[in-house]
Amino acid sequence: MLNRINDRVKDISVPRIRIFANKVAQFENGINLTIGEPDFSTPELVKKAGMTAIQNNLTGYSHNAGLLELRESVANFFEDTYHFRYDPETEIVITIGASEGIDAVLRTILEEGDEVIIPAPIYSAYVPIVHLEGAKVVYLDTSATGFLPDPEKLEGLITEKTKAVILNYPSNPTGVTIPKERLDKIVDVLSKHEVFVISDEIYSENTFSGQHHSFAAYPELRNKLFLLHGLSKSHAMTGWRIGYVLGAKNLMEQVLKVHLHNAICASLPSQFAAIEALENCRDTPKEMNKAYIERRDYVQNRLRKMGLDAIQPTGAFYIFPSIKNINVSSLEFAEQLLEKEHVAVVPGSGFTKYGEGFIRISYANSLENLKEGLDRMENFIASIK
Ligand SMILES: Cc1ncc(COP(=O)(O)O)c(C=O)c1O
Repeated sequence: MLNRINDRVKDISVPRIRIFANKVAQFENGINLTIGEPDFSTPELVKKAGMTAIQNNLTGYSHNAGLLELRESVANFFEDTYHFRYDPETEIVITIGASEGIDAVLRTILEEGDEVIIPAPIYSAYVPIVHLEGAKVVYLDTSATGFLPDPEKLEGLITEKTKAVILNYPSNPTGVTIPKERLDKIVDVLSKHEVFVISDEIYSENTFSGQHHSFAAYPELRNKLFLLHGLSKSHAMTGWRIGYVLGAKNLMEQVLKVHLHNAICASLPSQFAAIEALENCRDTPKEMNKAYIERRDYVQNRLRKMGLDAIQPTGAFYIFPSIKNINVSSLEFAEQLLEKEHVAVVPGSGFTKYGEGFIRISYANSLENLKEGLDRMENFIASIK
């Protein structure tokens, strides 16, 4: 029956991250530097809130948009931290991680033949969903502009067919954040055109110096913006599956329909845990950032000594060094490193072809593992040079 499966689904390939993570797990002494999740535990208070909900039989469905109390916590979090407010009654939907938010928003807006502009290299989850909807991705190459979109180039790509622009800062895979001046210029471009802006700011709390700047803070984007967010990264809650989408009322009414027919609602015990995270554990990411900064500096230093340059990450927990001075593709590099030294990294080409010539290392890992992984990488590089 395979011939009767949707061709667009058959065309989707398994993300490279998973392939390398699965392979390294087969080696007893394997070091996995592909991991896109914090190596910390969910805060105790949050775990307790989830357990209490289960013990109290709060295990049913919630409102399709999520518990109002959680939506209020989300609204208050953004208002207190970033000084913009979305109405918890009508402008926030709690999703099953940011992933379901990405899916719900793209399925709400896309039609066959639409174009979606995506700066690249970029996180690999957006593209397959765009393709599933019969829409086309138009890439904005950022590899020569510090992994940040050039506002003029962005404007040059917008056509009548452009339905949306997807942005992700702090960035997976590059770790760059977007400076306010650049943000202002991009907002100027976006506000002039009738295109949706989908801003995935899931790493906002993992900003290492100064404050994260949100696209959602610009009133001129209010009628076209979807903010994607969640607790997976900030509170080490990847398995709880809580995300949220924020947007203008008339748009969110449409997103809610897609979400409810797909998911009904996010897990209820997880929603209670999420309230605790947003209300009483706001400093959790700050603690994690201290560790990330120490590891980032260690990793970048070691890479530099191996002759691998990387833009200094200012957010998330990834570093994206260039391997262009080594004469292999990023896929060959990752495959051989895995085979010879049992260390897994993600080839840059896993983040579109614009990531070729780079590898992604996640430093959401202990200093001990990072040291061992980098020692082995050093051996590997010496052996192939
Ligand atoms: C940029 C980005 N957006 C969304 C997600 C998915 O997050 P969630 O666990 O909330 O679905 C990830 C996970 O790696 C990510 O890197």
